[in-house]
Amino acid sequence: MKITIVGTGYVGLVTGTCFAESGNQVTCVDVDEEKVNKLRNGIITIYEPGLEKLFQRNLRDKRLHFTTSLADGIDDSEVVFLALPTPPGANGEADLSYVLQVAEQLGKLLKKYTVVVAKSTVPVGTCAKVKETIARQTSVEFDVVSNPEFLREGVAVEDFMKPDRVVIGTDSERARKIMYELYAPFVRQGNPILFMDIPSAELTKYAANAFLAMKISFMNEIAILCEKLGANVDMVRRGIGSDTRIGKRFLFPGIGYGGSCFPKDVQALVQSARGVGYDFKILQAVMEVNERQKTYLIPSILKYFNGDIRGKRFALWGLAFKPNTDDIREAPSLYMIRELLAHGATIRAFDPEAIQNVRKQLGDQIEYANDQYHCLENADGLIIATEWNEFRLPDFERMRALLRQKVIFDGRNLFELEKMQDEGFHYISIGRKPVL
Ligand code: UDX
Repeated sequence: MKITIVGTGYVGLVTGTCFAESGNQVTCVDVDEEKVNKLRNGIITIYEPGLEKLFQRNLRDKRLHFTTSLADGIDDSEVVFLALPTPPGANGEADLSYVLQVAEQLGKLLKKYTVVVAKSTVPVGTCAKVKETIARQTSVEFDVVSNPEFLREGVAVEDFMKPDRVVIGTDSERARKIMYELYAPFVRQGNPILFMDIPSAELTKYAANAFLAMKISFMNEIAILCEKLGANVDMVRRGIGSDTRIGKRFLFPGIGYGGSCFPKDVQALVQSARGVGYDFKILQAVMEVNERQKTYLIPSILKYFNGDIRGKRFALWGLAFKPNTDDIREAPSLYMIRELLAHGATIRAFDPEAIQNVRKQLGDQIEYANDQYHCLENADGLIIATEWNEFRLPDFERMRALLRQKVIFDGRNLFELEKMQDEGFHYISIGRKPVL
């Protein structure tokens, strides 16, 4: 099949590459000339495990193409995916201007029946707006389909290739057949393609992300309660997660959720609800808890240093909002850094992938380490903000030798309490008794 992806951001690039991998002819369109040139020349613009290999292969085999021209891009295409940004607008509602601008241009360019697919996370009613916008420009037949994306950064290729489910909102039999054909290779193992009406598909994406964010905020509150009542959140987490109605995943407390989706989508859903006169109380609380959680460790750090961290030097492990990505959007680490600097501390940070992005944003407000041990030299304490695997089994002896004070503030609960006791660290984590 010949398909076009408009927008070569995270979702666009993964979607385009994976559809090329299943044998389609894919053209990706982006207004950013520099980006398109890089991609054309085989330089991948995002870090995502496993993607580069597929990207190179499909580029070489001429199934994957890049252009800045929408007209060239959609020439002959049967399906056009819109994978454009929908940033939060003035009041937290998703800003649809990119999506609608492209819809307008598309309307002028369509030559034959085309399925236009909204892949970006868009509020309920957006597909209808896209349809109206295109229809104003053309008399050519087309259908607009909602096909939200559930892939996670860091495991995006796997999520795309073997999705738990594919959600497709459409009111057209013709579009349904085309979408089925396109996705059939990815659901061979039996996971469903769920066809539904368009508003339900649009809402499914928000409901999924909001529910997961709610699970995390819930556990973060349980963790606080554990600390206050002398319980251990690891035990409580296992205890409730073994109930299949609750499930084991997404119950890890920490210093809050970040990234490009959860914060934005929860806020957008609250706004959407408000727009139709409904006050979505649970999600308000989910957001409040998450805000507080991002700097939850700061009072413990201050307490440990008797309320004064001026001139103290901290090692920070982890900058990315989660492991296996260089993405720092809404990363809790950045909120921690801001607070620590405001209290007069200095920071040397290490992250396996995200240093470059942080350097762009923070410049020399903090120091950057070459590796996780260089980070610890002469530090008054270690703070852990991201659970990269390489932090899980460190050389504790080396750590003891490098750190000035043997204290670890762990925002991701990487270590067992007993182990920390044996290794002789003061260890402050989330929802568990401090080891002092
Ligand atoms: C999320 C959704 O999972 C995905 O379906 C959607 O398409 C995009 O948004 P992503 O943002 O890549 O994906 O990351 P995810 O792995 O879901 O983690 C989100 C945040 O929640 C991270 O900051 C992570 O640290 C945090 N988290 C996750 C927890 O704090 N505890 C958990 O138990 C799980």
